[in-house]
Amino acid sequence: MDKRILGLILAALLLGAPLLACSQEQPLGEKVETTACVTCHANLVVCTNLDQDRSYWESTVKRMVGKGMDITEEEEKAVVDYLSGLEPGSEPVCK
Ligand code: HEC
Repeated sequence: MDKRILGLILAALLLGAPLLACSQEQPLGEKVETTACVTCHANLVVCTNLDQDRSYWESTVKRMVGKGMDITEEEEKAVVDYLSGLEPGSEPVCK
């Protein structure tokens, strides 16, 4: 194979690697919110409540689990941590 082509492939792989690593580093709470919470309703209902405190999110997430949301205890805690730390209007919950 042409050395230049090999060089290009190598460069593409090297440039792509940090992007891949980045997507894997999405915080667990954010991942749960953007995948599990949107299966029943739009993010908008979450977005409009971002000014709420931790106890609101603890009880709300528990209620969502009661409605059939299937997440582990670790994911539940992560999403509560995530949502109680977000400023109103934060992306990707609000966009
Ligand atoms: C199994 C379906 C389901 C999943 C998954 C789900 N919800 Fe809900 N959610 C509902 C329904 C249905 C409502 C409508 C209000 C009601 O019935 O109490 C709702 C309403 C809400 C509301 C509106 C305010 C309120 O108190 O009713 C918020 C905020 C909310 N959900 C947050 C979340 C978050 C955060 C997640 C992910 C951790 C989530 N939901 C996942 C079903 C779900």
